[in-house]
Amino acid sequence: MMAAVDDPGMRRPVEEGLRDPRPVSAPRPVSDPRPVSDPQAVADPPAVREPSGGELPGDLELRPPTGDELPELHRLLTEAWGSPVVAAHGATYDLTTLPAVVAVHSGRICGAVTYRIDGAACELVSINAFDGRRGVGTALVEYAAAEAARWGCTRLWCTTTNDNLDALRFYQRRGFRLVGLRPGAVDEARRAVKPQIPAVGAYGIPLRDELDVERPL
Ligand SMILES: CC(C)(COP(=O)(O)OP(=O)(O)OC[C@H]1O[C@@H](n2cnc3c(N)ncnc32)[C@H](O)[C@@H]1OP(=O)(O)O)[C@@H](O)C(=O)NCCC(=O)NCCS
Repeated sequence: MMAAVDDPGMRRPVEEGLRDPRPVSAPRPVSDPRPVSDPQAVADPPAVREPSGGELPGDLELRPPTGDELPELHRLLTEAWGSPVVAAHGATYDLTTLPAVVAVHSGRICGAVTYRIDGAACELVSINAFDGRRGVGTALVEYAAAEAARWGCTRLWCTTTNDNLDALRFYQRRGFRLVGLRPGAVDEARRAVKPQIPAVGAYGIPLRDELDVERPL
């Protein structure tokens, strides 16, 4: 979502967890041509500017989660992804350790993104609208894009899977383009990392491959 702007004034303790909007980098697969970050950055990521927060029309509030909201956010993410750990492009991420932005309506979390920064690229590691087709996903993407650009990122990207036709439609209608295909990457993640990934995904489509989508900022 944002570049690793070195702003010591924004540094905050790691214990703040998801309240901390700083990026968390992780090793990238050999097949991924993007620049590799220092793996140590997982333990001590660079500082970035905080989201500015704010309200959208319809009283949808977008901001980092508060400490009180973390248990519910973690529950929602774990339920949505079958585990707090997700696998993508040869890496694994514990969503509960990544910085996040939540969409809150009437005091209830109705959507969330988790993200990580690698150079000038912001990866949406997860995006969920817990109330679908009400504009929450769009609001989260637009918020993330605006914040990432404000922080100096030049691209926003995400990995999705071959069965996720809804997400492919969603992303492409919001300015993302297909930039990568890894045939068999989900099969490999299921074998090596996360056996609970189902063999059959949405629409009864065999769940096998990863696709990267990207939006220039
Ligand atoms: C992908 C995802 C985040 C989209 O979130 P969403 O909140 O449903 O997205 P939006 O409501 O903003 O937009 C979805 C569609 O609903 C439509 N919509 C929005 N508000 C609406 C309303 N009030 N009435 C009817 N339709 C509406 C939008 O126009 C959009 O259609 P379009 O793509 O043809 O323009 C959501 O489907 C999701 O959580 N999926 C599961 C997790 C996932 O697969 N994540 C992506 C891979 S990491």
